Amino acid sequence: MDIEHFSLPLLAWYDKNKRDMIWRDHFDPYYIWLSEIMLQQTRIEAAKEYFIRFTTELPDIVSLAQVSEDRLMKLWEGLGYYNRARNLQKAAKILVDDYGGKLPADFDALLSLPGIGPYTAGAVASMAFGIKAPAVDGNVLRVVMRYLACDDDIAKMSVRKKVEQQILSVMPERPGDFNQAIMELGEVICIPNGAPLCSQCPIRDTCQAKAGGYPEQYPKKAEKKPRRIEQRTLLIFERDGWIGIQKRPQKGLLAGLYEFPAWDGELTQENLAKKLSDLEIYPAAIHAMGAATHIFSHVEWHMTGFHITLHQNETVERLASTIQFVPRKDLSETYSMPTAFHYYLKQLLI
Ligand code: ADE
Repeated sequence: MDIEHFSLPLLAWYDKNKRDMIWRDHFDPYYIWLSEIMLQQTRIEAAKEYFIRFTTELPDIVSLAQVSEDRLMKLWEGLGYYNRARNLQKAAKILVDDYGGKLPADFDALLSLPGIGPYTAGAVASMAFGIKAPAVDGNVLRVVMRYLACDDDIAKMSVRKKVEQQILSVMPERPGDFNQAIMELGEVICIPNGAPLCSQCPIRDTCQAKAGGYPEQYPKKAEKKPRRIEQRTLLIFERDGWIGIQKRPQKGLLAGLYEFPAWDGELTQENLAKKLSDLEIYPAAIHAMGAATHIFSHVEWHMTGFHITLHQNETVERLASTIQFVPRKDLSETYSMPTAFHYYLKQLLI
């Protein structure tokens, strides 16, 4: 890899072809940081709406540091991995306390903040402050592995470190644009699934994988462990038009978000009615709401939901004292219900 054949043609291509992204118009380090964290969760097209909503309400680091947890979760709703949002706020508080409410123009200081790893530190350092730091994400790994026809397993930390060194060794002026040029090449030309669009690639003449004829064979990745499957039966209680929800524990999957109560396993309507009567809960009606699946990175939830209408004076204390009943409209406006429950939430809100 060298600057003449790799870096300069890529930069020239980027200058001509770079896509419009709202956060690219402003050189605001907060915007760059926030957009990079969002882009770890969703596609560029989808991130735009979240980004506008988030920055309209929280236009700077101080407002992010001060917002309530429930409101923060609401603004992040749909993006998943809610700890990313919590870490944004933790970092914002540190920035307010120790850095005058600004992101530091220093790679190591950025790296020390919660939720900022080598990729994000490199992205913010290079794009916001022009610091020569690599920002190696999955796109960059793929582009480099193909360019060098390298068989290394990109899941390994040592391989990522090597790629960071290689990128640094060919870093031209304008490091922020260069980092984005490689990512963008990976997103629109050197694409992950299916054949890359080599005929449109600015570095095809020196690409080893293209020369070998099978660019899509790279990068190599070790097989992942299959996801664990969890069967859950959701209990969607309704009393007087209000719906029963509870807050999840502060640690672990979907920490601190709201959910419908659930039992492990897939229960039939009869079994559900029996288990409720064992707790001396006798609903006015039970209706099946159907099955839904939600896929997280390590777990799959296979859910069946039941809408359980309670008599006016019926409590569910014997099931769980943590269940609170809230007006239907608050389910969408106030409480953050993870996407996993949207199939059921939608049915309640029509
Ligand atoms: N993917 C993540 N961040 C990006 C950026 N700044 N430009 C292009 N693609 C990206």
